[in-house]
This record gives sequence, structure tokens and C-alpha cells, in this order.
Amino acid sequence: MKALVTGAAGFIGSHLVDRLLDDGHEVVGLDTFTPYYPRPMKDANLRNARGRSSFELVEGDLGELDLRPLVEDAEVAFHLAAQPGVRLSWEAGFPDYVRHNITATQRLLEAVKGSSTRVVYASSSSIYGNASQYPTGEDAAPAPHSPYGVTKLAGEHLCRAYAANHQVQAVALRYFTVYGPRQRPDMALHRMVDAALRGKPFPLYGDGEQVRDFTFVADIVSATLAASTADVGPGTAINISGGSSASVRQLLELVGDAAGNEVLIDQQPAAPGDVERTGGSIDRARELLGWTPVTGLREGVEAQVRWHTEHAPNAETTG
Ligand code: NAD
Ligand code: UGA
Repeated sequence: MKALVTGAAGFIGSHLVDRLLDDGHEVVGLDTFTPYYPRPMKDANLRNARGRSSFELVEGDLGELDLRPLVEDAEVAFHLAAQPGVRLSWEAGFPDYVRHNITATQRLLEAVKGSSTRVVYASSSSIYGNASQYPTGEDAAPAPHSPYGVTKLAGEHLCRAYAANHQVQAVALRYFTVYGPRQRPDMALHRMVDAALRGKPFPLYGDGEQVRDFTFVADIVSATLAASTADVGPGTAINISGGSSASVRQLLELVGDAAGNEVLIDQQPAAPGDVERTGGSIDRARELLGWTPVTGLREGVEAQVRWHTEHAPNAETTG
């Protein structure tokens, strides 16, 4: 297939690009290299892809480029570009979330309108907020607890509006806290491993009892690929969660074991926008995509620790 991957230089996007290329597909990767975290990390993410003849990188902004020529040839547009991260979406951070998560998504959908290109939209568990039920099914009422979640939900609504009015084949995948090699440096596990390996304190927001349904990046990629060909009604939303629920404190212990160093704590107040718990039902993913996660949390944490050890990512962090 010919695929467009937006956010190709990012954490998840770059893994998706690598898998598509390994599977023999032609890939156009689009990324504008937002300064949310250092560009050298994003360049390193694309190291494998850049040398391959079936890969083309287009450096540009979804909010500005003429997108039609890019989607014209593509059977699938994997739309992963976004301004991610829950904690910086307040105050002066918000306009970037609107621009990269809402306006960019609307421009992509406009470009796809009238074609048969399928759109696989990277949505988020953040659309649920503090859910009323766990594991949370897709029919639960969305109630985002952060401005970030609001913008990701708006992207989903746009997918549904374009599906209903213009027959755009859009599918929304609600990813739950993704981890593994190349994880963004603002995320908890990246910071924990970095803290363990460098003997620095980890900033712990709140009491550490908040629970996340951690999902390994290779499992996310498998689900995302399955969604590109599965028989799924336009506008459908599907949870993609790892089934590895753990609290932040439990994760600290796992990292301590895997890195061979206890993680020091720098206690910080709870962060606005942070939910107490996420946990997704994957019944729909099983049924529609034939997908289940295969990587357990301990194994996945060990893989991420190995990556930090071997690649020594720039420790500069944001958020
Ligand atoms: P990331 O920041 O590593 O990757 C996003 C990439 O998109 C970046 O390289 C950035 O430069 C690019 N980008 C942003 N705005 C752009 C624009 N207007 N035009 C072109 N490129 C642009 O983030 P990630 O963690 O890989 O997340 C990928 C997607 O998955 C996002 O949509 C995010 O909301 C979603 N998601 C991530 C997680 C997670 O745990 N990482 C969980 C749920 C959902
Ligand atoms: C993550 C991603 O960052 C979002 O982009 C994504 O949309 C979301 O998952 C999702 O599942 O939809 P989050 O769950 O906040 O958001 O992931 P982390 O940044 O890894 O944080 C996990 C927990 O660790 C949070 O409770 C957070 O407050 C805590 N944390 C994080 C710390 O205590 N200290 C830190 O330095 C970072």
C-alpha cells in the first residue's frame, strides 16, 4: 500500500513508519518538527527510515501545506501528528493544541474528502476524563478532564462529521498511555528511567496512586495497521489499551528493578488535568480488528530501559 503518516518523526509515528517499510509498503512521512521536545530526538527516530528508497519525508505543517497532492496517492492516511501531553495544555499552551490537534485534523479531512483514502486518527484515552466505569467501553460518555483531551475529542468529532456528511472512511483509535523505545521525554516512564540511570530525582505529581493502562508501542502499531484494512464503519472509535494497569508508584518499582537503581523522588503537587485512573475495554478492538496486546508491562519496561542505555537519549525534558 501507499501510506501517508503524519507525525512521522514522533514517538509512535516513527515506529509505525518503520513497520510499514519493513512490511514492504511505500510511505510518505509528514512532520513539521514542532519544538515540544528537541529535534535531534526526532531526527534519531527517523534514522532507520531515512535511508530507505520507499520512504519520503516531507517537512511541513499540516496547517499550512497544500495537502491534496500528499493524500491523492495514499490509500491510507495515518494521522498521528498532534500537540500531545496533558499538563501543558492549560493557559498559554492552549493555542498550540487547537492548531495542531483541531485545525490540522480539519485540513487533513478536507484534503481527503471525495477520495477513497482511509483516515486512521490517533485519538486518546484523555477523551474519557475520570470515567464512570472501568474498564471503560467506547460508549461511555466522553468528559475530558484537560484542554488536551478536549482537543483530541474535537478531532474525533471532526472525523465523525466528515464520515457522516462526506463518506470519509475515518476510524479513531483511542490510544492509552503508550510507552517503549523513543518515548517522549515529557512522559512518566521516560523521566523515571532517565532518573534511575542518572541518579537524578523523578518529579512525582501527586501521591503516585494514579493508575494508567500502559500500552507498549509495538502493540499500538499492530492495532493501527489492523485499522487500516479492517471492516470498520466510518466514524467508529476503538480503544487500544495494553491491559497492563499499574499505578505510578508500581511503575517506579518496576523501573527500579529493571534499571538496577532505586528511583529518587522529588515530590510535586498533583498536576491539573491528570485523571485518577485509565483502563480501557478492548472487546471492540478484539472484535473489529482481531487485535490483542501481547507485551506485558515488565517486558516492555525492560525494553525501554535497554533503549535508554543503548541510545542515551537527550535528557532535556519539557512539561
Ligand atoms: P510526538 O510528539 O512524539 O509525535 C507527534 C509528531 O507530530 C511530532 O513529531 C510533531 O513534530 C508532529 N506535528 C505536530 N503538529 C504537526 C503539524 N501541524 N504538522 C506536521 N507535524 C506535526 O507524540 P506521540 O506520543 O508520538 O503521539 C502521537 C499521536 O498519538 C498524537 O496524536 C497523540 O495525541 C496520540 N496519543 C499519544 C499517546 C501517548 O501515550 N504517547 C496516547 C494517546 C494518544
Ligand atoms: C499520556 C500522553 O502523554 C498523552 O499524550 C496521551 O494522550 C495520554 O497518555 C493518553 O493515554 O491518552 P499520561 O497518562 O498523563 O498521558 O502519561 P504520562 O505523561 O506518562 O503520565 C502518567 C502519570 O505519571 C500521570 O499521572 C502523571 O501525572 C505522572 N507523571 C508524569 C509524574 O508523576 N511525573 C512526571 O514527570 C510525568
